[in-house]
Amino acid sequence: MSKPLTIAIDGPAASGKSTLARRLARALGYLYFDTGVLYRAVTWAALQRGLAPDDPAAMTHLARSLRIEVRPPSRDDGRSNDVWVEGQDVTWAVRAPEVDRWVSVVAAHPGVREALKAVQRRIGRQGRVVMVGRDIGTVIMPDADLKIYLDASVEERARRRYLEAQGRGETVSYARILEDLRARDRLDASRAVAPLRPAPDAVVLQSDGLTPEQVFERVMALVRQRNSAPAEQRV
Ligand code: CDP
Repeated sequence: MSKPLTIAIDGPAASGKSTLARRLARALGYLYFDTGVLYRAVTWAALQRGLAPDDPAAMTHLARSLRIEVRPPSRDDGRSNDVWVEGQDVTWAVRAPEVDRWVSVVAAHPGVREALKAVQRRIGRQGRVVMVGRDIGTVIMPDADLKIYLDASVEERARRRYLEAQGRGETVSYARILEDLRARDRLDASRAVAPLRPAPDAVVLQSDGLTPEQVFERVMALVRQRNSAPAEQRV
């Protein structure tokens, strides 16, 4: 019988984290939790209410007071979870380009991060979870059994996002996507609190040139290793 694990997956935007995490969660029968939706939900609500995303006090107050619910999917339209804000289904609304543009500004406020920490830790403590974000291995679950830092070149990531957008029938330019990703990477990696970086004990996987299947297989091999090693040898 294998030991239930906590798995932390961090990395820059569009590095394939959610694809990997979804597959792992399905294969292991674990919960998949994409923490980016929490920051997206706060950003969406700020834009709706005409609040300034770069106002730390307003964003902290919003993050503390907003009722955000993440639940199992209620519809079969490609969603992995339902995201509700104040009783409204915002699962797709939080993926809008306007939210993409502002989310890293909102996520950089220390008060916002603090407000969203408790719910993430509570879910982490339950175990049998694959949690995805930017600071899961470093801040939210520093004791995770397995930490993966999934990376890819910014050009490869922009190409993936471009193909996704095309698939959804959206007309966006590759150059614009590349520019937005670069800006978001810069903000995420340079913020003072919980910047994007691999935990010292994370396994760094560079995914350029690897198929989603190959990335999944590599990580499953690590999961098997963790499961078969005695606790004191687990790193
Ligand atoms: O899916 P994608 O990689 O584009 O973004 P996401 O995972 O939904 O995260 C959106 C943004 O939220 C990131 O660019 C970060 O600024 C922020 N975020 C964060 O700061 N910490 C997390 N644990 C997750 C997301």
